[in-house]
Amino acid sequence: MIHNPMNTLTTSCTKARYPAVLALLIQLCSLFMVLTLAKQTSITLSLLEWGSLQGFLAGILSLLLRQPVWWIPIHLFFSPLLLLALTLDISPSWYLLAFSVLLLIYGKTFRTRVPLYLSSRDVNIELTKLLPRDTTFSFVDLGSGCGGLLKNLANSHKNGRFHGIETAPLPFLISYLRNRAFGSPLTLTWGDFWQHDFSDYDIVYAYLSPVPMETLWQKVSEEMRPGSLFISNTFIIPGVQPYKSIKLNDFSNSTLFIWKI
Ligand SMILES: C[S@@+](CC[C@H](N)C(=O)[O-])C[C@H]1O[C@@H](n2cnc3c(N)ncnc32)[C@H](O)[C@@H]1O
Repeated sequence: MIHNPMNTLTTSCTKARYPAVLALLIQLCSLFMVLTLAKQTSITLSLLEWGSLQGFLAGILSLLLRQPVWWIPIHLFFSPLLLLALTLDISPSWYLLAFSVLLLIYGKTFRTRVPLYLSSRDVNIELTKLLPRDTTFSFVDLGSGCGGLLKNLANSHKNGRFHGIETAPLPFLISYLRNRAFGSPLTLTWGDFWQHDFSDYDIVYAYLSPVPMETLWQKVSEEMRPGSLFISNTFIIPGVQPYKSIKLNDFSNSTLFIWKI
């Protein structure tokens, strides 16, 4: 078999351990190309046009290096939007505020590789149907975000004990304040679910990303009790068939995959 170094490069980029570092390298590389072009040719473009060209080249590089597809619009629009924002007379405090808010929500994504997005209304409804009505049970949401899913389930199932673990400070604070305000019967922990023992729970729910699923399955298999359920929204465990899957017709085409331990 002929070894193609480009295949090796693209495969390792797809699985890049630090995608943000790769994105930064792509931005710098395309900036270097545009600066070289601007210096060595007589083409005259406006700053915004040069910025757009840089974004275009970064988008192509991202595509060639097989970064996940959602990186492409980020690369395409990063420089043009930055240049446009600089032409507006916006106080630097707003940039600082926006940066701080993003940091408090997504700052740890660099390590966890799991950004914040919320379970859909259909997922809430389906889980409400799935949870037991006539027996007591315990449920944990791994990465509980702003706590909306837990609040709904806790309100509809008074026979359940609900717990959420969230690592991002701002979503955790929102869920905490929301819980204080509405007094839902649930408990919340600010922390890392990898440090928690899953054997306390009858049902473990996760809506994460493809990255942690294999390692998560090892933890689930080691710690969860026989007969308990592990439910993953959207993300499969490679090579492990779920006992049941429920396809939903929501905006993100969610599927609930259920494994019986
Ligand atoms: C896709 S969101 C899901 C939010 C919520 N569970 C829902 O279904 O609406 C995933 C959340 O998991 C959190 N998260 C990722 N890794 C985590 C970890 N190791 N410990 C605790 N939370 C984590 C992220 O901060 C993010 O808020």
